[in-house]
Amino acid sequence: MGNCFRRWEKPSIYTVSSNAKSEFPKYERPSKKQMREDSKLPSNPKEVEDLRRDSAANPLIAFTFEELKIITGNFRQDRVLGGGGFGRVYKGFIREDLREGLQPLQVAVKVHDGDNSYQGHREWLAEVIFLGQLSHPNLVKLIGYCCEDDHRVLIYEYMAGGSVESNLFSRILPPLPWSIRMKIAFGAAIGLAFLHEAEKPVIYRDFKTSNILLDMDYNAKLSDFGLAKDGPVGDNTHVSTRIMGTHGYAAPEYIMTGKFL
Ligand SMILES: Nc1ncnc2c1ncn2[C@@H]1O[C@H](COP(=O)(O)OP(=O)(O)OP(=O)(O)O)[C@@H](O)[C@H]1O
Ligand SMILES: [Mg+2]
Repeated sequence: MGNCFRRWEKPSIYTVSSNAKSEFPKYERPSKKQMREDSKLPSNPKEVEDLRRDSAANPLIAFTFEELKIITGNFRQDRVLGGGGFGRVYKGFIREDLREGLQPLQVAVKVHDGDNSYQGHREWLAEVIFLGQLSHPNLVKLIGYCCEDDHRVLIYEYMAGGSVESNLFSRILPPLPWSIRMKIAFGAAIGLAFLHEAEKPVIYRDFKTSNILLDMDYNAKLSDFGLAKDGPVGDNTHVSTRIMGTHGYAAPEYIMTGKFL
């Protein structure tokens, strides 16, 4: 694997903490100060792996970019599943002959779009660390990542039902029956409850229909932890009041007060 070297300084704490995530609204470009702070984050593959392994619940696979080309058919246009603030998402397939020990698996490969992306290394790292720590049937499973040169890629389990957004606004698919909608809402709520009730609670901060993914049976899984943040633990009840999320999806009382009520 190549090196994704950037100049970086050892962070003071090796935990998932607020300094691993963005503090700017999702669709604003990072300020110069933010970019300077970004350069302090671990971005050398070995350091990322050390940081991750410390708190890992999921064994993640570190893919090379060459392997991802094979998985996605060289990032073929007709494999594009969608795109967002981070970059494009491609459908891919891991064949067992890709590398010894790998099982065949359908995956979704989310590729950072360099300077065109509204998100960056912080969001990528937050996703790797949070989803590396957390495991639950209502959270999307992160299979692995790639951190090579300037490439930042996330590899997830493929969710064959797509996002709730694509189901709600599709011109092809029939409208979802209410029973299915309730099943999805229930699954997403269980995912949120798991995050809030975890030993180290997590505030998700990007709850919206495009981030709720579905399997073939309409089981809902939360995705996108790039904006997630540690919640209050014990007596330490302070959480940032900086308002984060996606316009149009945050609760009005949260936008008005900056507090999670
Ligand atoms: N694991 C996955 N399996 C199947 N499709 C996926 C998966 N992850 C993402 N997608 C598809 O890719 C689309 C884009 O996802 P992405 O998270 O990059 O952007 P978004 O959620 O639409 O916007 P934002 O950047 O604000 O989160 C999703 O809407 C979904 O259709
Ligand atoms: Mg998303």
